[in-house]
Amino acid sequence: MNRDIEDMRMNYTKGNLDEDSVLDNPIDQFKVWFEEATNSQILEPNALILATVNKNNIPSARTVLLKEIDPGGFIFYTNYRSEKGQDIADNNNVSMVFLWKEIERQVRISGIAEKIDPSRSEKYFHKRPKGSQIGAWVSPQSTIIESRAVLENKKREIEKKYQDHDQLPLPEFWGGYIVKPVAIEFWQGRPSRLHDRIRYALVDGSWKIERLAP
Ligand SMILES: Cc1cc2nc3c(=O)[nH]c(=O)nc-3n(C[C@H](O)[C@H](O)[C@H](O)COP(=O)(O)O)c2cc1C
Repeated sequence: MNRDIEDMRMNYTKGNLDEDSVLDNPIDQFKVWFEEATNSQILEPNALILATVNKNNIPSARTVLLKEIDPGGFIFYTNYRSEKGQDIADNNNVSMVFLWKEIERQVRISGIAEKIDPSRSEKYFHKRPKGSQIGAWVSPQSTIIESRAVLENKKREIEKKYQDHDQLPLPEFWGGYIVKPVAIEFWQGRPSRLHDRIRYALVDGSWKIERLAP
């Protein structure tokens, strides 16, 4: 099996990326690539890996879904009391990675995570299907639970409580974070491992664009 893994490799040939043709603002550049990823039949192009660090400097990473590209950053939603929420409360430096392997691209973002305004979270919360709203109330995300039955029982209880309502109130422990980027790197696979890497770094309030060796 390890031999098979050793033999797994692809040569990347689908595109290139040039410092002269990228847009001045990395969020605008991200929008261009996101649109191309969306049009490429990629399943959940808005799925990203979010890495956080806890108060003991131990990193952890998990998948979340991008829900909005704001001119100031990238918004995702979660339970504020989850492990990631506690990590961010202790250290709001985060890192995000989008892998769009079907188009041989990766985007890597470092930034500062901040809670968004509850009114904005509420607006999004109420756009979600009622079942997802119930799910947010039911799950004490990242805590240890005795069995699946804990969730099923709580679900029945919440469903009953709100059976005559179309919407549930926004839980105070649930909402969005905006990740305000300080660096964004766009990676395009190229033949023979000589990939293109263009990194934007925020220097004195302006975006500096540099090419990195692959
Ligand atoms: C495709 C995919 C999308 C996910 N999207 C989210 C999301 O948007 N928000 C979220 O809180 N968890 C999401 N999860 C679950 C997280 O990966 C994770 O299990 C959960 O948030 C608990 O993480 P934590 O204990 O590190 O806080 C998603 C998982 C997958 C596989």
